[in-house]
Amino acid sequence: MPSGRKIKILVVFGTRPEAIKMAPLVKELQKSPNMLPIVAVTAQHREMLDQVLDLFEIKPHYDLNIMRHGQTLSEITGRVLEGIENIIVKERPDLVLVHGDTTTTFASALAAFYEKTPVGHVEAGLRTRDKYAPFPEEMNRRLTGALADFHFAPTEAARENLLKEGVSRDSIFVTGNTVIDALFASVNPEYRFEGLLGRLDFKNRRIILVTAHRRENWGKPMEEIFSALAELVDMFSDVEVVFPVHKNPAIQALAKKLLGGRERVHLIEPLEYAPFVNLMARCYLVLTDSGGLQEEAPALGKPVLVLREITERPEAVEAGTVRLVGFSRSRIVRETRRLLLDEKEYQAMANAVNPYGDGKASYRIRKWLEYSYGLSSEIPAEFSADFGSRSYKK
Ligand code: UD1
Ligand code: UDP
Repeated sequence: MPSGRKIKILVVFGTRPEAIKMAPLVKELQKSPNMLPIVAVTAQHREMLDQVLDLFEIKPHYDLNIMRHGQTLSEITGRVLEGIENIIVKERPDLVLVHGDTTTTFASALAAFYEKTPVGHVEAGLRTRDKYAPFPEEMNRRLTGALADFHFAPTEAARENLLKEGVSRDSIFVTGNTVIDALFASVNPEYRFEGLLGRLDFKNRRIILVTAHRRENWGKPMEEIFSALAELVDMFSDVEVVFPVHKNPAIQALAKKLLGGRERVHLIEPLEYAPFVNLMARCYLVLTDSGGLQEEAPALGKPVLVLREITERPEAVEAGTVRLVGFSRSRIVRETRRLLLDEKEYQAMANAVNPYGDGKASYRIRKWLEYSYGLSSEIPAEFSADFGSRSYKK
């Protein structure tokens, strides 16, 4: 590496969860005097992305602004591929960093590959081994994994998944999940809510926080989920549902149709990250099909009922804080009812467990990159104690 030249790292993301999980890493890379992070957003999401950029005060160098209502997966892929390729050709980065499993992730990794530019995959190695669940995320992450040169796995289980696929041991680094970095920076017991959240009665009401957006749940499964919520609210007079509805018009319409106008069901716009995670910290339990919530809620000691049949995040299920309840109305009602009625059952799930990290994942990724690109001659202390496995020492 010529002396004096900074290592140029193109950090790409496009949706809300990628932004939340890449923001702490962007901040961390900005601390390095010899690294030049360039941020490119595809804006596969618009408002939901901008909320995160504002909160973390990140001003992207490039914004592809690709979001169109009703666009297909191929259209997203095409727009990202072409847009990111142009940026790579212009900037000639040393590395492209992508996150997780969205179509932005895969298409950006593919653009980097076509330009023979190395790829670092953050949150690597999550798997269900079911091609269509979650859809299209399972294939997005597998295909990204096939293109990546550095695999930043959040957990040992993720590392094992990659090893089973024949990924070289030397290219996998267990760092924890950067979502915990973002969470720790944002949860505050003194946090004061505004508006509707400020009027919630956390003492006398049990707040169920709900999110749902997965493509494989569109249609009938989502109808079942929403009907289950309606039934639960009718069943328990002290239960109140707060459901920040994903911006996808299909989900907004169905939520309004099945849950609109009900007392004790608050269908609200997506919340900014700070109020959202602080609400999660104070709610009674979480019902969700989201990936990120399965990582955040356990760290906050909140039971999570996952509205899916399968998960790529088995760690919190094993720890007992997360339970898969699928998407049939009767099962969701049964499992939620059990938690609402049985205090012992509830307490058994309400354990703060943190299999996903300790808040230092971004720091470890930076340290590893500095070492790999010759900016520091020492193997990062974080990894050296257990260098053989390249896992951070817990
Ligand atoms: C996307 C990702 C999914 C990720 C999820 C997180 C793909 C194919 N899907 O799913 O992996 O888990 O984000 O939320 O990569 N919309 C807005 N404003 C916004 C965001 C979305 O209006 O800020 C609407 C638009 O009409 C958009 C639609 O929602 O076309 C769907 O967005 P899209 O990114 O295609 O899919 P998601 O279901 O959000
Ligand atoms: N989130 C948020 N506001 C909301 C709902 C979710 O900030 O109204 C955050 C949440 O804390 C998590 C992320 O968004 O970090 C999850 O995003 P999403 O469920 O859209 O995607 P997934 O995690 O399933 O990919």
